[in-house]
Amino acid sequence: MHNYLITSTPEKAEALQDSCLHMDDSAAKCCSKKDTGGMEQWAKDFKMVEVQSLSCDWYHSTWQFLRLINMVAVPDWYPFYVGAIKQVLVHNPNSKIFISACADYGMLAKLHEAIEEYNNEHETNCNPQITIADICITPLQNAKWYAANAYLKIDSFVCDNIITGNFPEGEYDLIITDEFLSVIKDELKQEVVDKWKKLLSSGGCVITTAMQGEPTNSEKRAFFAQKARARIKANPQLFPFSFDKDAFENIMKKTDRFAELHTRHMIKNKEQLVDLFRNFAHLQLDLVETPGECVNPTFSYQIIAKVNK
Ligand SMILES: C[S@@+](CC[C@H](N)C(=O)[O-])C[C@H]1O[C@@H](n2cnc3c(N)ncnc32)[C@H](O)[C@@H]1O
Repeated sequence: MHNYLITSTPEKAEALQDSCLHMDDSAAKCCSKKDTGGMEQWAKDFKMVEVQSLSCDWYHSTWQFLRLINMVAVPDWYPFYVGAIKQVLVHNPNSKIFISACADYGMLAKLHEAIEEYNNEHETNCNPQITIADICITPLQNAKWYAANAYLKIDSFVCDNIITGNFPEGEYDLIITDEFLSVIKDELKQEVVDKWKKLLSSGGCVITTAMQGEPTNSEKRAFFAQKARARIKANPQLFPFSFDKDAFENIMKKTDRFAELHTRHMIKNKEQLVDLFRNFAHLQLDLVETPGECVNPTFSYQIIAKVNK
């Protein structure tokens, strides 16, 4: 078995390459059509495609390949996660932690880094209880794959929606998720934030990120598709060793499709976040520069929101 302890660059690269094939396979089998929600909602709302059969496989099967060429937002883009999560573990080494949707194993890997750092710095190991939920089973399969390789115990649940999901209220010391607010359309953002507040235990906190920017328009989509093709052609060594000409051609078609359908509902400004989190007792917002997806660079908020004890 590989050691997927995510602390060194070659191991990170190896885990990511392995996960591309794993997730491509899972997406074909597991991504399914939903009545509402998920990464396909925008395309359905705008009738961009034949909606009857649309699932989220275009997103989940392509995401890891786009990670190889650093073209999608991932927890690794944000420097605050490990330190911020570790602070929660220092306060309570047995914290109950909820990952509120995940594109893949990326958020779990960040949590794993924080756990490892904590364990290296303390005499006894921490023992957080980790629950992950998503509207689609594919990212959960990917997180389970990572967890098995990293010897982490997790519980995972497919939910109809984070907003309506039947999770225990007042239960979690920490909720983490990366860029969930920028995949949720504006009219639902407040319901998501309110749901997080309900799920937190007293003194608990949300640690997340949210990109700031403009709507995803057709120029940005074309730019993204062209850039993905160019990066794939220039960097074949980043892709699995087994890749032949047809596999590369197939990936470029997938990235074209991703560019056509992937939509960010970005945060307009700091005031919008201050308003969304107004019912929390403490809010920390730090604007950081990231490589960005359709706009390079992009600015994004690192968010820590706490409720009262
Ligand atoms: C956490 S988000 C974003 C993660 C990624 N780092 C990014 O920047 O796009 C992506 C995940 O949210 C899930 N998702 C989207 N809408 C959802 C909803 N309403 N309830 C639960 N999960 C949802 C999708 O299935 C996907 O796996």
